[in-house]
Amino acid sequence: MPSAGMRGLGNPLELPALTTPASTAGTRVTLRAFIAADVGLIQSASRDPLIPLITSVPATSGRTEALAFMERQHQRLKSGSGWSFAVADAASNVAVGQIGLWPGQSSRRTSNPDTIGYWIGPDHRRQGYAGAALALLTEWALTEADMRRIHLYIEPWNEGSWRTAERAGYRRDALLPSWQKVGSQWKDMYRYIRTPL
Ligand SMILES: CC(C)(COP(=O)(O)OP(=O)(O)OC[C@H]1O[C@@H](n2cnc3c(N)ncnc32)[C@H](O)[C@@H]1OP(=O)(O)O)[C@@H](O)C(=O)NCCC(=O)NCCS
Repeated sequence: MPSAGMRGLGNPLELPALTTPASTAGTRVTLRAFIAADVGLIQSASRDPLIPLITSVPATSGRTEALAFMERQHQRLKSGSGWSFAVADAASNVAVGQIGLWPGQSSRRTSNPDTIGYWIGPDHRRQGYAGAALALLTEWALTEADMRRIHLYIEPWNEGSWRTAERAGYRRDALLPSWQKVGSQWKDMYRYIRTPL
């Protein structure tokens, strides 16, 4: 069942390819579906100490598990759970990470927010990829996907992630105690919010 955010796009079945405008200074990315050539990136993410704890990237780095992970990302749109993109360098199309837009569910009583999550492979960090990907997907969510407010949840120690958020125009509005389980432990989270400018 598509969520409210996805209904705004008429239950799409194909992932769009989004690219940073050519006029943008600095790092430019393309957000696209995962392809078989990206398997090495997933395997390297499996070896990262944090990524398998906070995502569905497998904790073992076998090729079969990596291919299964990519297949699960292809199913996200069809099942209505959200948009899962590979982050690729706009010039080379080499995959460097992953970013997902996850629509919340609203009812008369509750409203779960629309959220974005992201990671960049260990070999590709500190080159502006996360900031470029988050800025691009946020603009698309707020303009094309009918979303009014995007939330990010970030552990306070994770300066790389909250700097990424701030670079993409998000503002911190809360520290949420014991908000999310990471591995076996409940962790405090900063909440970051972006609304249309
Ligand atoms: C956090 C992460 C996504 C950053 O990706 P990245 O591509 O290296 O980030 P960028 O190069 O776009 O940098 C964005 C900003 O963060 C800063 N930054 C990046 N890594 C940093 C670090 N380890 N420490 C301090 N600042 C850092 C950059 O200097 C830049 O700051 P600026 O806007 O002031 O110039 C990446 O380290 C990662 O995937 N980590 C593991 C998974 C994770 O933490 N995901 C987010 C969960 S909320």
